[in-house]
Amino acid sequence: MSRVVKLAVIPGDGIGPEVVGEAVKVLDAVTADSGVTFEKTPFSLGAGRYLETGDTLTDDDLAAIASHDAILLGAVGGVPGDPRLKDANIERGLLLKLRFELDHYVNLRPSKLYPGATGPLAEPGEIDFVVVREGTEGPYVGNGGAIRRGTPHEVANETSVNTAYGVERVVRYAFALAERRRHKLTLVHKTNVLVHAGGMWKRIVDAVASEFPGVDVDYLHVDAATIFLVTNPGRFDVIVTDNLFGDILTDLAGAVTGGIGLAASGNINPDGAFPSMFEPVHGSAPDIAGSQKADPTAAILSVALLLDHLGLTDEAARVTRAVEDDIASRDGARTTAQIGDAIAARVQA
Ligand code: NAI
Ligand code: MG
Repeated sequence: MSRVVKLAVIPGDGIGPEVVGEAVKVLDAVTADSGVTFEKTPFSLGAGRYLETGDTLTDDDLAAIASHDAILLGAVGGVPGDPRLKDANIERGLLLKLRFELDHYVNLRPSKLYPGATGPLAEPGEIDFVVVREGTEGPYVGNGGAIRRGTPHEVANETSVNTAYGVERVVRYAFALAERRRHKLTLVHKTNVLVHAGGMWKRIVDAVASEFPGVDVDYLHVDAATIFLVTNPGRFDVIVTDNLFGDILTDLAGAVTGGIGLAASGNINPDGAFPSMFEPVHGSAPDIAGSQKADPTAAILSVALLLDHLGLTDEAARVTRAVEDDIASRDGARTTAQIGDAIAARVQA
């Protein structure tokens, strides 16, 4: 039985093309003798494209990308502070637009401290949790505005949008995930202060919990969650939270589990109405771009998430195992391509 997967590939800027090159290398290696073929379409998007054409993401780009089965993205964004990119807003015009238009309501960010990886914690214990971050609502929807800009009387509003529909679907996803893992779900919010949104999140979690009697439910305020992520990260299994809290917590999570070079993510539309998008958490790292210093592991682990999402669980497990083995045997500096080659070789062994 042969299966064809149409994959949109967005290498992007800076180290994006370097790490995506290695991720595709590993994808090709793991599917070499399987019945699955990935038909890849490259898309030139990001700061480079904006500087060339003035476009960030056109309707045609969006329609073309949406016709694929899945998306692999490197990183987009130019050198921070580049005056030529002042009006571009690649983050909102490209990344957030893709997430919103393709209804990526689950932003999935696993954090695992792999044996051999070194993080900043002296006694980290076992760390293996997943943050399920709501991806289409919260303060990121652009529901706001400003008046009297630049004057002492300026008013700036950024209103967080939380719908019962949007919260329930992501909460349900998080419970189902916890049921497949270690049966623990932690809601993170700030219900003591953000009483309207927080109250609704809490009520919805409590209601959905009754459908998942095997899952233990726990609640933490976001400030307390940052303490436990450092002092006792082993207490977490699945964390469900809103768009903003999830953004912040996952950078912290990445830091305690060995760094940004290892953190992978999926922007998922679980309904399958639109293609899901997989990308390393890191950005385009202009400071090391072109020097083969980037660690492609985060991009390669994003391929594992992609394979898993497509139901190719054997292939996903092979990629994850190859990465684990590679991390366990790391010593000395290697180039981006050397790391990719080593993991691709392990995948085929
Ligand atoms: P960044 O993640 O690109 O870099 C932060 C630091 O981490 C830098 O010192 C960089 O060298 C290092 N780093 C990042 N990825 C690495 C890797 N794979 N291996 C080794 N070191 C790595 O974040 P920064 O500097 O804030 O942003 C740079 C550009 O990337 C900006 O234009 C920003 O807007 C964009 N960006 C894009 C994202 C995306 O495409 N999803 C996410 C975050 C930032
Ligand atoms: Mg972030």
